[in-house]
Amino acid sequence: MSERVIPLVDQRLTGRRATVPARHIAPTGLLGDALGRPLRDLRISVTDRCNFRCSYCMPKEVFDKDYPYLPHAALLSFEEITRVARQFVAHGVQKIRLTGGEPLLRKNIEILISQLAALRTMEGQPLDITLTTNGSLLARKARALRDAGLQRVTVSLDGLDDTVFRQMNDVDFPVAEVLRGIDAAREAGLGPIKVNMVVKRGTNDHEILPMARHFRGSGIVLRFIEYMDVGATNGWRMDEVLPSAQVVKRIAAELPLVQLEPSAPGETAERWGYAGADGAHDPNLGEIGVISSVTQAFCRDCNRARLSTEGKLYLCLFATEGWDLRSLVRGDLDDAGLAAAIAAIWQGRDDRYSELRSTLAPDTSGGARRVEMSYIGG
Ligand code: GTP
Ligand code: 5AD
Ligand code: SF4
Ligand code: SF4
Repeated sequence: MSERVIPLVDQRLTGRRATVPARHIAPTGLLGDALGRPLRDLRISVTDRCNFRCSYCMPKEVFDKDYPYLPHAALLSFEEITRVARQFVAHGVQKIRLTGGEPLLRKNIEILISQLAALRTMEGQPLDITLTTNGSLLARKARALRDAGLQRVTVSLDGLDDTVFRQMNDVDFPVAEVLRGIDAAREAGLGPIKVNMVVKRGTNDHEILPMARHFRGSGIVLRFIEYMDVGATNGWRMDEVLPSAQVVKRIAAELPLVQLEPSAPGETAERWGYAGADGAHDPNLGEIGVISSVTQAFCRDCNRARLSTEGKLYLCLFATEGWDLRSLVRGDLDDAGLAAAIAAIWQGRDDRYSELRSTLAPDTSGGARRVEMSYIGG
């Protein structure tokens, strides 16, 4: 068994104090960080719990029955989340992603969705509201999510082979139920649906082609994610990363691909379309994406902010500390003050972990100070 490093410091218990700048920074929708990057995407984690135990995210040995999950009173309420989100939208956020843990485990999540769906950008546009789920509860909940105003979902699915899938989720959950969830999402109109597969060399890389064949021509965009060194508990090793270039090569050897233009600035995925008989992209066959945080960093245009389950603002997936917005929200600050505090934090942001990864001194702590993805969300 590989050695696991368990953090001595629980990063959730510490946090940076967010303050309101003396001169308010009024929202213009055009806020930029220290590297000139706008704020467009807000990822909100609504629970730190999950019913799966994927080894790369919530390994069983650490996330056992004694794990100190956040108590309910620590969580931001739906009203608090919506109030914070409103300030982010005023600063330029156009997309909100609900994550977890497993977001569908948060009770009455539909109520939060309907509150967020009522927000409008400066230009009066509705937001792109989406959710990342493991799909286990989707068959039951897809319709209600759609009715509440959710536009689309991204489902995590690491393989089609039932044995491999049960092994990867480590709770013996059957793949057929997730596939049923994807069908239900489609029937409810929660599209375009994306499916995310984290690729671990030697564990599920033999599932790449079956997954590609299965979703080709289905209207669902399958994306392959390089296994990342997030958190402090997954025992990450570079030799378990399969570079995206090899994923593309393996697929293209059987199913020809052509590279597509990015659809939005700051996008995580590089897009590849399936080619038809004429060698050009055939939209009926659809496309795949590869997300290469390890071999090809995409920090340059990173416009993503993350709000943790108990209201800390993280400026990078690999951050070691977040900014405590909850104490501001629970104080007597008005919206202008809250917006100004958020603006001051974003203006100071210079995080670009993936770009620096290769130049950083080797981390002998095993990343022990980094927060878990189950806590700040993907
Ligand atoms: P779409 O709008 O649906 O395309 O969303 P997205 O591309 O932002 O995708 P999603 O949230 O599904 O992210 C896919 C995966 O990419 C996540 O699960 C992470 O593994 C990884 N990822 C997302 N955002 C970041 C990021 O800012 N940095 C790094 N290093 N990885 C990220
Ligand atoms: N590497 C890459 N992606 C990860 N995720 C979680 N942990 C990791 C990791 N170590 C992503 C998966 C999952 C989403 C919730 O977070 O895509 O679908
Ligand atoms: Fe749960 Fe998703 Fe983490 Fe797996 S990757 S343990 S499904 S939050
Ligand atoms: Fe953004 Fe940090 Fe990911 Fe780079 S590593 S893309 S800065 S979240």
